[in-house]
Amino acid sequence: MGLKNKLSLENKKNFNICVIGAGHVGLVVSAGLAKLGHRVVCVDNNRKKIALLKRLSLIFFEPGLESLVREGVKRGRLYFSYNLAEAIKNSEVIFIAVGTPPKEDGSVDLTSIENVCRVIAQNLNSYKVIIEKSTVPVHTGEKVKETISRYKKKNVTFDVVSNPEFLREGKAVYDFFNPSRIVLGVESQRAEKILRAIYKSLKTTILVSDINTAELIKHACNSFLATKLSFINAISRICDLAGADVERVAEGMGLDPRIGRDFLRAGVGFGGFCLPKDIDAFIHISKKLGYDFSLLKEVKKINQEQKSYFVEKIKEYLWVLKDKRIAVFGLSFKPGTDDMRFSPSIDIIESLVKEKALLFLYDPQAIGEAKKVFSGLATKKIKFFKEPYSAVKECDCLCILTEWEEFSRLNFKKIKFLMRYPLIADGRNFLDKEKLERLGFKYIGIGR
Ligand code: UGA
Repeated sequence: MGLKNKLSLENKKNFNICVIGAGHVGLVVSAGLAKLGHRVVCVDNNRKKIALLKRLSLIFFEPGLESLVREGVKRGRLYFSYNLAEAIKNSEVIFIAVGTPPKEDGSVDLTSIENVCRVIAQNLNSYKVIIEKSTVPVHTGEKVKETISRYKKKNVTFDVVSNPEFLREGKAVYDFFNPSRIVLGVESQRAEKILRAIYKSLKTTILVSDINTAELIKHACNSFLATKLSFINAISRICDLAGADVERVAEGMGLDPRIGRDFLRAGVGFGGFCLPKDIDAFIHISKKLGYDFSLLKEVKKINQEQKSYFVEKIKEYLWVLKDKRIAVFGLSFKPGTDDMRFSPSIDIIESLVKEKALLFLYDPQAIGEAKKVFSGLATKKIKFFKEPYSAVKECDCLCILTEWEEFSRLNFKKIKFLMRYPLIADGRNFLDKEKLERLGFKYIGIGR
């Protein structure tokens, strides 16, 4: 029986897969794997979330995901459940995509990973491949293995794989089907073969390594991206001081293929639930291993300063901010998402509220999330708008904090007419500076 099962699993094309966690990564991976032909059950302990998903309702915005989920469900390949034990028993392959939030000290809270490992162990009724999809610090794979071995009841074998996810929010569906690479941290040929079969139809480079290396690749990538951003943001400060244009500097740098053009857009800093927490986690795990990653501490500091620098720039024009009417467009941490986690808009808006400015907020998708985030602030000072033109009425300044494409198509003639003072603070260097100046706006960018 053991041998038969072994052979058949390794030679299968489509697998019974359980994805634990219906968050951004878990849901995209579930729907993506279903589209690749696998039978996927996506499990979450949040019953409300699962009930909504069963009704095909997503709790966050991600372009293209809703139709992908709908298709998977319609074809009978994608299911949702909160019965983890049952889902584990019925699966050959288990992806762990639960949250790994930051703790106060910057380290990663791995409680959810530990919890699901114990449930996996208790329900390990046959050989299974257990895959770390969540971003985790190096050596987590060892703990996963130890935990499952400790709590498993039956004499069955299992393999642990690290298969970090590199998808970007807002482009997650595209990234799933067009990955720049697939990293497989494996310890057995059997697990490698199964993983290769799962991803067979995705044409890309597959990099195979040990588990520690794969875990480290993920933290190294996000830390490098953050470093690139803080580097160009530091250059933007020098450009402001020297009277140069950071956009042209980035272009000139990016033309060198060793540097590349991506991730060189200066702005109010990076946010989101990945880069900020991952650099903290990497600083922390490096220290634990005996290395002081001071470079990343500086990356973090530059990112923090970029937000206060932006507020200072506005103050240079408006002088005293008390009772000044400021419209803020773009609240999510980047376009294409309603995700407000660690969004630069949070610190900037909090600073403006502290200065007693009156704020008029607009975002194409994130107003609902923003209302939750800012509920603790002096609400009389903040108003939310469903459309941009009402938000700018009688304002002294319009801040752009996220480069939503629709902002470039706004009727700026109308906006100029509606505003009390035509000042635009473009925190993403996204708008056409010359055009706005021709229309009579005073334009503030970052390093240009
Ligand atoms: C990031 C990585 O890009 C993904 O590869 C990774 O899979 C993901 O984290 C993760 O670990 O799950 P994401 O957080 O979705 O993806 O966002 P990014 O597109 O990387 O943007 C991060 C921040 O950098 C945003 O606030 C964005 O506005 C900012 N950014 C990005 C810039 O300020 N300038 C740029 O040139 C690019």
